[in-house]
Amino acid sequence: MEECSIIMTKSIAPSDTQDLAEHYDQTSDAQYENGIHLITELRINNGDRVLDLGCGTGRLARHVAEITGKTGFVVGLDPSDHRIKLALEKSRLFPQLSFRVGSDLSLGNFPDNSFDAVYLNSAFHHIKDHKGQESALTQVRRILKPGGKIGLSDPDQTSPSILRTITHEVLGKYGVHSQDDDGITPAELESLLRYTGFWIQKVKYIKNPERYDSAQAIIDAAESSHFGNYLSEVPEEHRDQVRLEITKKLSELQTSTGIFMKRSRVLIIAEKPG
Ligand SMILES: C[S@@+](CC[C@H](N)C(=O)[O-])C[C@H]1O[C@@H](n2cnc3c(N)ncnc32)[C@H](O)[C@@H]1O
Repeated sequence: MEECSIIMTKSIAPSDTQDLAEHYDQTSDAQYENGIHLITELRINNGDRVLDLGCGTGRLARHVAEITGKTGFVVGLDPSDHRIKLALEKSRLFPQLSFRVGSDLSLGNFPDNSFDAVYLNSAFHHIKDHKGQESALTQVRRILKPGGKIGLSDPDQTSPSILRTITHEVLGKYGVHSQDDDGITPAELESLLRYTGFWIQKVKYIKNPERYDSAQAIIDAAESSHFGNYLSEVPEEHRDQVRLEITKKLSELQTSTGIFMKRSRVLIIAEKPG
């Protein structure tokens, strides 16, 4: 593969911290399980060239590097330098795996037809607005080989989690409009993929109950998976109070075995026509 010059885009994740990145790395089992499901559906092969866009701390990319072996390679791209630093530290034994700070906006640096597969696990909905998502998919199509595949797994916005419902409720009380980035509708995603020239191969709806020890554990998970942007739309002087009210409402769901939260996701595999 040609050497790529990657644009450093630290400012895309300015609110992230080392602590949030480490917390995510240690507690993101649910995202990892969803990622394993996505990779199974993508049918990656030994020798494949793969891009993980929004790779976080690189846990899933290491799993993929085991599949590609040393005859293939995996590139992980993430705007958070804290997450990329952790990913690099944990991947020293994988010469076929490299990580760079970058985002959807860095895709222009990859040559045409250079990947067998590109995937985004819990990352696509973080790409800014419809236009940004459309140009990201256009770039992904360009850098995929003909017959190459894209795999996406994201929260299904038509079936919001209880955390999302409570967050909206509390924010509404404070007159704050929530940044609507927690997921995408399956219809929107399918139509974006078709519009950017992909053939949709598979659409799966997944419902996973997730268990948390406490309300605080749910808030901590939201903070770390949103790289410091959870509640960022709330003015700072109200943020602690808002967090407290959300935690209180979540605590009402506590059972002796924890809090169970239903999460609905959409998983899509699509192909660049050959
Ligand atoms: C919920 S985490 C998922 C991380 C990883 N894919 C996984 O499965 O654990 C979302 C990731 O998307 C990254 N991200 C946010 N905005 C992005 C963008 N515009 N382009 C690429 N990645 C982005 C974040 O830095 C974060 O690491």
